[in-house]
Amino acid sequence: MAEDTVDKRKRRFLVAATTVVGGGGLIAFAIPFIQSMEPSDAVSAAGAPIDVDISKLEPGAMITVPWRGRPVWVLHRTPEQLKVLQKSSLVERLRDPESKELQQYGTEVVNWYRSLRPEYFVVVGICTHLGCVPTYRPDIAPADLGPEWPGGFYCPCHGSLYDLSGRVFKSMPAPLNLPVLPYYFKNDTLLRVGELKDKSEQNWLPQTW
Ligand code: FES
Repeated sequence: MAEDTVDKRKRRFLVAATTVVGGGGLIAFAIPFIQSMEPSDAVSAAGAPIDVDISKLEPGAMITVPWRGRPVWVLHRTPEQLKVLQKSSLVERLRDPESKELQQYGTEVVNWYRSLRPEYFVVVGICTHLGCVPTYRPDIAPADLGPEWPGGFYCPCHGSLYDLSGRVFKSMPAPLNLPVLPYYFKNDTLLRVGELKDKSEQNWLPQTW
């Protein structure tokens, strides 16, 4: 991918960030809804894995952390949101509901919730069309997205829609599901983002980046 395209994507992320808090390898949160943060320049520049404290991430809330210059979302899905993901009325509207295309690092996240644990969704928040940052829209049937909207992500650039597993809807400008990057749970409240436990897949890249 051309450097200028990469730089534009980075710029979009930086513009989208609403709150920036310095930190080190460990990022701790006290967030009610959505918050964007940035670790130290050294950590970002190195593309090093980061530890994310999810102990205060309440059901329904989402946080954004940077990894290799991209926004990574960590969403704590509610039981109601998880139920919606399995509804046939939603699944039949999705382009690749079973994640058959290579938009995730490994088979353990090839499932209807596209994650290691159903309640936590960890994904690169970059639209697979032209790289804008979609917005989290958990509201059901809002006026601007219509009565069939089940909650998910909306890209404001050209209108692509994704469900709460980052699965793209049919007939959208975006061709692929959102990329699920390598991560693992160090324990129940600490996520390691950008690395697998066995240190494999460290150079993983999705089809769109
Ligand atoms: S960049 Fe998201 S729809 Fe075009």
